[in-house]
Amino acid sequence: MGHFPTTLDYIGLNTPIGDEYEFQELAVEGAIPDDVQGSFFRATPDPVYPPYLEDGGAVLSGDGMISAFRLNDGKASFAIRYVATERHLAEAAAGRALFGKYRNPYTDRPEVAGVDRTVANTTPVWHAGRLLMTKEDGRPYQVDPTTLETRGRYDFGGKLKSQTVTAHVRVDPVSGELFFFGYEADGLASTKVAYCIANKDGDLISEQWFDAPYCAMMHDFTITEHYALFPIYPTTSDADRLRAGGDHWVHEMERDSWLGILPRYGDVSEMRWFKGPKGVSCYHMMNAFEDNEGRIHFDQCLSSVNAFPFIQRASGLNLPPDQAGGRLERWTVDLKDGSTAVTAQVIGPPGDFPVIPANKQGRPYDHGWMLTMNPQMKGPPVAGGPVGAMFNLLLRLDHTGKPPQALGLPPAHCFNEPVHVPASDPSHEGWLLTVVDHQIGPHDFHHALWIIDAGNLGAGPVAKITVPHRLRPQVHGWWVAATDLAGAV
Ligand SMILES: [Fe+2]
Repeated sequence: MGHFPTTLDYIGLNTPIGDEYEFQELAVEGAIPDDVQGSFFRATPDPVYPPYLEDGGAVLSGDGMISAFRLNDGKASFAIRYVATERHLAEAAAGRALFGKYRNPYTDRPEVAGVDRTVANTTPVWHAGRLLMTKEDGRPYQVDPTTLETRGRYDFGGKLKSQTVTAHVRVDPVSGELFFFGYEADGLASTKVAYCIANKDGDLISEQWFDAPYCAMMHDFTITEHYALFPIYPTTSDADRLRAGGDHWVHEMERDSWLGILPRYGDVSEMRWFKGPKGVSCYHMMNAFEDNEGRIHFDQCLSSVNAFPFIQRASGLNLPPDQAGGRLERWTVDLKDGSTAVTAQVIGPPGDFPVIPANKQGRPYDHGWMLTMNPQMKGPPVAGGPVGAMFNLLLRLDHTGKPPQALGLPPAHCFNEPVHVPASDPSHEGWLLTVVDHQIGPHDFHHALWIIDAGNLGAGPVAKITVPHRLRPQVHGWWVAATDLAGAV
């Protein structure tokens, strides 16, 4: 079956592992807090077979794996399995890679024409008792939350029309409704976007389609109490380029960004578009909310160019990360004053993987957490993930003017995206769970799940739970409390 290339996509932390395994009782250093009862689900790409085409998007194309740390009564277990996507099964049957470049089916082997290409490797989403593995280029796959077995593609009981579903949904903390969208909803390089709502029971109650200003990578979006917000950044696709075997994404520095704002329960004809700066890029938003003056604030991990090296290369751009202009930026719009552009304000440092308490989704909020790079770091960052460098500083940012808190890691360590676990005591900020990777040799790593007091980062972890096996970098995760797992359907 050949060998994996020796590029950054496949070496060090990104070395393919390809094992399904589980450990019943993991070693725990410290004590798991009583509040932490449930499962931390994680999505991890891990290619089974070496690619047959050179492809810069390889890190994003790895077969999706679903894993779960199960934390109950002070004990921890871990299990990881592949998501049995159509693509995974087709390649397993052939014993080799059959799919070509990232999100370009014109580069696939002819025998897989029409086979679902998604690898379901981005976010485990929990809603209405269902666990869904998502990736924005296709529909989700439902996974059994206990066995991690794949049940099949999920289309909301046959109701969903969109061919795609985002990996970044938003759950309203009061109504329990699931808000989501799918871009390229009717095919490659399309401007069609499906905006969808499922009620708290998981029934799809609304699907409306609208046209984006251009076909853009729409990775994330936000809600507020009364609105849905759709950001458009100029990482764009083109049908002719795809047909010619080219890259799915090119970043266009001279193109405007946009923020579309729609009443949550309104008609898509009510969408209003507000212009943002040219050339900017963002993968994840921290939150959005309305204030007492009727303005809408939208907080995002923005950069001045798309941060992924393979997209920069495809675009004729090649900026080192320290020149990417990263910052947490707040865009504000006033729906009443007739303005047609956003007002921008920098409210935090460069970084990504923003996290907030689930009960603050779409509501005014005081603080959030995110990952960044320690400016006083000794030694190079750990190489890994799609950008090629992993974060090594966890921040608690306070939007009320209090100083930030930080937890830095020693050299050769890095963080994966944390999840937040609420505390039973409302005066306590809860807990952050994050996998920390430690490089101990050119090809050797130690991996542990750290549990951190979310309101006291400087105190360091209250528990470290070791996984005695290699782990590949996680994309996103989702915390499901034991009480919610009991309602699995
Ligand atoms: Fe993401």
